[in-house]
Amino acid sequence: MKSSIKGSTWLYATVLSFPCTLAAVLSSPADLSTREYDFIVLGGGTGGSVVASRLSENANVTVLVVEDGGNNEGQLALEVPFMGVTLPGTAFDWNYTTTPQDGLNNRTFHYTRGHVLGGSSSINLLTWNRASDDLWNRWASLTEDDGWSWKQVEQYYLKTSQLVAPSDGRDTTGQVDPSVHGNGPVEVSVSGFLTDIDPIVEAASKELGGRFKFNVDYNSGDFVGTSYMQSSIGGGERSSAATAYLPTDVRGRTNLDILLNTRALRLVQTDNSTAGPVFKGVQIAQSADDTPITITAKNEIIVSGGAFGTPQLLLLSGIGPEDDLKELSITPLVNSPDVGNHLLDHTLLPNYFNVSINGTWDDVVRDSAVFNEKLQQWLDTRQGLFTDSPGNSLSYLRLPDNSSAFAGIPDPASGPLSPHTELIFVDGFAAFGPIAQPATGNFITVLSAVSSTTSTGSLKLASSNPFDIPLIDPRLLTTTFDIEAMVQAMKDTQEFFAADAWQTDVKPVPFGDLATATTDELLAEYARNNAFTESHPSGTARMSPDNASWGVVDSKLKVKGAQGIRVVDASVFPVIPECHIQAPIYIIAERASDLIKADYGL
Ligand SMILES: Cc1cc2nc3c(=O)[nH]c(=O)nc-3n(C[C@H](O)[C@H](O)[C@H](O)COP(=O)(O)OP(=O)(O)OC[C@H]3O[C@@H](n4cnc5c(N)ncnc54)[C@H](O)[C@@H]3O)c2cc1C
Ligand SMILES: *[C@@H]1O[C@H](CO)[C@@H](O)[C@H](O)[C@H]1NC(C)=O
Ligand SMILES: *[C@@H]1O[C@H](CO)[C@@H](O)[C@H](O)[C@H]1NC(C)=O
Ligand SMILES: *[C@@H]1O[C@H](CO)[C@@H](O)[C@H](O)[C@H]1NC(C)=O
Ligand SMILES: *[C@@H]1O[C@H](CO)[C@@H](O)[C@H](O)[C@H]1NC(C)=O
Ligand SMILES: *[C@@H]1O[C@H](CO)[C@@H](O)[C@H](O)[C@H]1NC(C)=O
Ligand SMILES: *[C@@H]1O[C@H](CO)[C@@H](O)[C@H](O)[C@H]1NC(C)=O
Ligand SMILES: *[C@@H]1O[C@H](CO)[C@@H](O)[C@H](O)[C@H]1NC(C)=O
Ligand SMILES: *[C@@H]1O[C@H](CO)[C@@H](O)[C@H](O)[C@H]1NC(C)=O
Repeated sequence: MKSSIKGSTWLYATVLSFPCTLAAVLSSPADLSTREYDFIVLGGGTGGSVVASRLSENANVTVLVVEDGGNNEGQLALEVPFMGVTLPGTAFDWNYTTTPQDGLNNRTFHYTRGHVLGGSSSINLLTWNRASDDLWNRWASLTEDDGWSWKQVEQYYLKTSQLVAPSDGRDTTGQVDPSVHGNGPVEVSVSGFLTDIDPIVEAASKELGGRFKFNVDYNSGDFVGTSYMQSSIGGGERSSAATAYLPTDVRGRTNLDILLNTRALRLVQTDNSTAGPVFKGVQIAQSADDTPITITAKNEIIVSGGAFGTPQLLLLSGIGPEDDLKELSITPLVNSPDVGNHLLDHTLLPNYFNVSINGTWDDVVRDSAVFNEKLQQWLDTRQGLFTDSPGNSLSYLRLPDNSSAFAGIPDPASGPLSPHTELIFVDGFAAFGPIAQPATGNFITVLSAVSSTTSTGSLKLASSNPFDIPLIDPRLLTTTFDIEAMVQAMKDTQEFFAADAWQTDVKPVPFGDLATATTDELLAEYARNNAFTESHPSGTARMSPDNASWGVVDSKLKVKGAQGIRVVDASVFPVIPECHIQAPIYIIAERASDLIKADYGL
């Protein structure tokens, strides 16, 4: 069986079926025993699963989750960390495509989003970063709500996750600091199968120091430096919002219904109030041909459709920029100009290098026999290459203080503990972008990213039909800062590879167009031709101070100008964290659950 991942071909075995767990999960609106719940969560993804799990802890409240995707259970490719790269373009993906990108020489790219219980946490590449202390303190200041400061959210971080041993059970002293981790349900570990290059990354970092200094645990809150990657993996298996927050016993709660394969079409106004229209109803359906049914929430509706699904639903409901809505003949009910705007994401760029070592995983993805051997090892023992997603070590770098990228703008990073760029070191040819894996040879990939990104984009509706995909324009690499930071990251990669530690058999040699990109202009051109997304879209329903005229939700995540709706997902980020974003979403959702419980005396 083959799966095409944007230009390359990854081989993988026919998905084996797992024994099915009995679970109180419904697959059709006709199976609902009631049409009124205390709380309705729209989108059973990362944020939505946490809120549904926490609210239903109280047996006195009824909770319904409505999720457009299917069940995560029994799907091997969702469980095996290494197989995460096979999931784009499958039924677990919404299969969005961007509009032509100005900053990428008018290319479009495939924008993967989770379409399954657990949402994108069920299909992502698992890196676990809680974001720097500076980021959280900046959110507190931007929202004028100290409840978002690190001091206040630390308790919620500790509730999200716990550090567990890597699957190989090795001594991880010096690779992670257990004292900064919590005791929540998501399992987090460092790599279960270090590759040849990981110890070299550590050695080069210790040799060079300075901007590449070794950082034993970025989840201490200081993200700057070179570290072993921590991932949402336990016992060699993916740990997602669905597995961690909706395990069998939670699914079995009699006060929680999880309705799959069903889409929220639009929110329904049920009343008027001094705070604006009250939206406690929602239309749902399984396909464009179905007659929608309306269900209602006694208390409130929590919208957790993700950075694309949430603004799409708000816009379809008449909540958004008035003029845009009128153009599509949608009656504006709440004029909220920021809905869909201020889309933020990290640009990701693969840089490829030939290497002389032969242990990279290139042959694993070229040869189905080798692939199946590694998969069998995982099935039999939960050991080996497949216990990790590609990439076990990374650097988070500050730009040099005198970088010309800062000309005319304030430093976009949240503070000195936040990086400007990221380099992920991968022991093979990660063909996630336009360049296909060569038929022969061994490679390493450095995925470079702009962490403190300044490009902003938008999501708009294509029509008033909830089954049409929206127009997504992230506008990656459209600022001078972003392109200069990316070029610096590319040069930093070469500086890092110049360390003595690499002058062994590995000796990375730039491959393809990178080999001839000898000036900043050529590096920038390589970036525009090959960059795409790190899959971190956010900010499309951003939080702002309660009395501010900008922003979509207030600092308690309630939609401004309306009543009865809260947003809990990546849409609410006021600015994007300078790292991978899943852990911050779990943290937001833990705090949101407490805010909701407090409002209803639960
Ligand atoms: C390929 C990929 C790799 C990634 N790698 C990493 C990584 O390594 N580390 C990291 O930290 N982050 C990573 N991310 C990002 C991270 O996983 C996401 O940012 C995060 O999971 C998003 O959480 P969310 O709650 O905002 O949305 P999601 O988890 O996407 O949840 C939204 C849910 O709502 C559902 N939905 C949407 N619209 C509707 C509707 N109208 N009706 C019903 N249901 C609806 C969706 O099906 C989905 O289940 C990656 C993401 C992807 C896609
Ligand atoms: C549930 O409601 C009952 C009856 O009002 C009350 O006695 C009980 O404490 C409530 N339980 C919780 C967990 O709030
Ligand atoms: C995404 O595309 C694949 C391949 O065409 C398809 O099988 C899958 O159903 C699509 N996903 C959705 C949610 O439509
Ligand atoms: C991108 O498309 C626009 C509009 O068609 C055009 O003006 C522009 O020159 C194109 N840019 C590149 C680099 O091709
Ligand atoms: C809200 O108020 C408007 C204007 O008075 C009225 O037309 C509308 O029917 C009301 N809606 C609801 C759901 O009560
Ligand atoms: C890889 O290199 C090692 C050491 O040079 C050698 O012994 C081995 O045969 C090589 N393996 C392959 C598949 O080329
Ligand atoms: C920044 O400082 C470094 C070291 O002092 C120097 O080599 C480099 O040329 C400077 N860069 C710029 C853009 O001034
Ligand atoms: C890099 O690998 C490619 C593909 O195998 C090969 O054609 C090329 O010659 C190699 N380049 C170097 C410098 O080894
Ligand atoms: C909002 O209120 C706070 C404190 O009440 C005040 O400091 C701030 O200036 C106000 N902001 C706006 C935009 O009115």
